[in-house]
Amino acid sequence: MRSHSHNGSRRTPGKRDFLDLSSLSAAELQGLLGLGLRLKSELKSGLEHPYLRGRTLAMIFQKPSLRTRLTFETGMAQLGGHAIYLAPGDIGIGERESVKDVARNLSRWVDLIMVRTFAHSTCVELAREASVPVINGLTDALHPCQLVADLMTLIEHFGEIRKLKVAFVGDGFNLANSWIEAAALTGLDLRLACPAGYQPEKSFVARLRREKLGLLTDDPVEAVRDADVIYTDTWTSMGQEAEAERRRRDFRGFQVNRALVRHAARDAIVMHCLPAHRGEEITDELLDGPQSVVLEQAENRLHAQKAVMVWLLRPEILGRPAVPANSTKSASR
Ligand code: CP
Ligand code: NVA
Repeated sequence: MRSHSHNGSRRTPGKRDFLDLSSLSAAELQGLLGLGLRLKSELKSGLEHPYLRGRTLAMIFQKPSLRTRLTFETGMAQLGGHAIYLAPGDIGIGERESVKDVARNLSRWVDLIMVRTFAHSTCVELAREASVPVINGLTDALHPCQLVADLMTLIEHFGEIRKLKVAFVGDGFNLANSWIEAAALTGLDLRLACPAGYQPEKSFVARLRREKLGLLTDDPVEAVRDADVIYTDTWTSMGQEAEAERRRRDFRGFQVNRALVRHAARDAIVMHCLPAHRGEEITDELLDGPQSVVLEQAENRLHAQKAVMVWLLRPEILGRPAVPANSTKSASR
């Protein structure tokens, strides 16, 4: 049985959360990616893997979602557990009730919490106050779950990540920050192109420079030159809708289109976390074209979420060899 703190706020000793990639070691990230790929192949082989039977996930959404919600909920069902969706406005975290009180109540009922919110500090506070693991399902600062799926997609496509040149063209927001964290753990060469005024927040830029993770430019062509991967994200993120018009002007010249991609490596792939604003940050031609792997990324969100949940609640599963496809119809528990 879980032990609960009955007094002031404090971190539960030994508890792991998944709030960012930087809290993982490079080996842990590799383990997580391997687990995601293994869960994917088990599913494709028709194997059931109810590693989280009887476990419950609470999902707090303060922003909309298609992929994150569907993949956590589906993933939990495939793992034998149950997920509860809390829509924006349902529990009023930080308004109807403090973050701390939500965290402490949820910890008495569920085994795992996922939160999609605005300020990253809300996610950190929730994790500090909860005695069960907390997963960051996107904040204004980071989107680590997306990166697990994206890195799995790169492994599937290229075999290894280490020597890849990844050009990120667009807003220096949550996805760009997460790519900086990913570069630090994998050794990939990150080439960020952001317009003036839309560079990542200072601490991320400082890290990029200090750890020599790649370049930061305001020239998309410079970033994309010889790149293996061209990645983009919306110019107007959730919560920034009032700035859409200004952003469309400020990001002119940063569209991922045929002319830009011509500067990349011949066999470069095009990635987008979705949702896309077609005709703004990316053309239909590129999003739907042969270089696009956006649906592979979306598909991998399912396997990535499952890996994160298993990693947090059943870390011993990581060490287990995959069960051969034809030996049984149920993976070892
Ligand atoms: N990429 C992503 O997180 O999609 P949703 O916003 O639909 O969850
Ligand atoms: N930067 C985007 C990512 C959506 C998955 C946003 O925060 O809205």
